[in-house]
Amino acid sequence: MKVVGMISGTSFNAIEAVAVELSLEDRVVTADLLGHLSIEYAPAIRDGVARLLPPNATTIEEVARLDTMIGHSFAEVAGLLSDQYFDGAVDVVCSHGQTVFHWVEDGHALGTLQIGQPAWIAERTGATIVADVRSRDVAAGGHGAPLASLVDVLLLGRHPDHVRGSLNLGGISNITVVGPTNDPIAFDIGSANALMDIAVTWLTNDAETFDRDGERSARGRVDEDLLKALLDDPYYRESAPKSTGKEYFHLAYLRERLGDREIAGDDLLATLAELTVETVARAVEEYGVRELFCAGGGTRNPTLMKGLSRRLPQVALSLIDDFGLPEAAKEATLFALIGFLTVNGLTGAIASCTGARRDTVLGSIVPGRQSVRSLEADEGPTSLVVHNSMAAKVAT
Ligand SMILES: Nc1ncnc2c1ncn2[C@@H]1O[C@H](COP(=O)(O)OP(=O)(O)OP(=O)(O)O)[C@@H](O)[C@H]1O
Ligand SMILES: [Mg+2]
Repeated sequence: MKVVGMISGTSFNAIEAVAVELSLEDRVVTADLLGHLSIEYAPAIRDGVARLLPPNATTIEEVARLDTMIGHSFAEVAGLLSDQYFDGAVDVVCSHGQTVFHWVEDGHALGTLQIGQPAWIAERTGATIVADVRSRDVAAGGHGAPLASLVDVLLLGRHPDHVRGSLNLGGISNITVVGPTNDPIAFDIGSANALMDIAVTWLTNDAETFDRDGERSARGRVDEDLLKALLDDPYYRESAPKSTGKEYFHLAYLRERLGDREIAGDDLLATLAELTVETVARAVEEYGVRELFCAGGGTRNPTLMKGLSRRLPQVALSLIDDFGLPEAAKEATLFALIGFLTVNGLTGAIASCTGARRDTVLGSIVPGRQSVRSLEADEGPTSLVVHNSMAAKVAT
């Protein structure tokens, strides 16, 4: 099946998309990766998402406009891949869209909202679209995250002797842990780049949005007192499964934790990088992970990667690329796989990883031009006949 998978993550900087041929035989999925695109969001979209995110107030008009604009952008990217790799005839597009709110209370996810109206993607490509991929797992009692656990579990398999982990260093850090015998588990660890990105954006008045190549954090010195204050957050003490997002780790959160401390910009970045390293290291230690396969933009920050090697000398660190999947294409490939499973009626969430009551078939389906049919009719109706078989009085 010809599939396009797409996502913009919590860092809301770019649409990551892949074109992939997927097939399933003898319970093995084969993914033939054909192309990967990373297309930066237009400034109007990036600014729009930034304005929309908590703790900012927004209007339903802004949400509706951005939903459309992001839908247009995803549609354009899906169209490019379909044209280039499938002669314009992609079968299925799975779009994660952009998370704008992930509602977690008392350790439970109660709702989650991804925008980027999929109708535009269906109109542009003619394909069947799978969107809104997290809600069903939330409705089944799960966190709707980390969905990457699906790809992690399938790729890593079980090592007979030791525990393996798969780490994503995105805006948020999340890990999937696969042991020799137990059910796999997964959870969001905390902020990977979220707080660093926020700090750089704040310190540079929007001129820069991230600590490129870890230069600032490498120059700075860790402020142990601030690090302690940052680590003293109840989220890290909660047990898995758990999820979090940018509605929690935002600028107001950072400023509150800073209090009236005076700290140089580079030192703040060094401290936030160390926060990421320490929270990841604690999760890895808690589950006795021996091999850790990494992905996400944070793998391109040497301060983070060197920090992890230093803090976890007993752990073999490498990239998820070891399994043939380039780390930058991992999440888009995940959503392609979810789309493929969904249109085939197969589950795409692993309950032990998301905390759901059961594995569910994910997403909402927007029909493509070749929609699923159960009727022989070639033409639509021209009139409606009603037989009223209800009792005379309609129950209220
Ligand atoms: N060269 C680089 N140097 C330092 N940091 C980088 C570099 N490239 C990417 N990053 C970091 O990675 C972040 C983007 O990572 P990624 O695309 O994995 O996040 P995301 O998918 O949006 O987040 P999530 O997975 O939580 O949804 C950037 O915001 C930046 O902080
Ligand atoms: Mg990501």
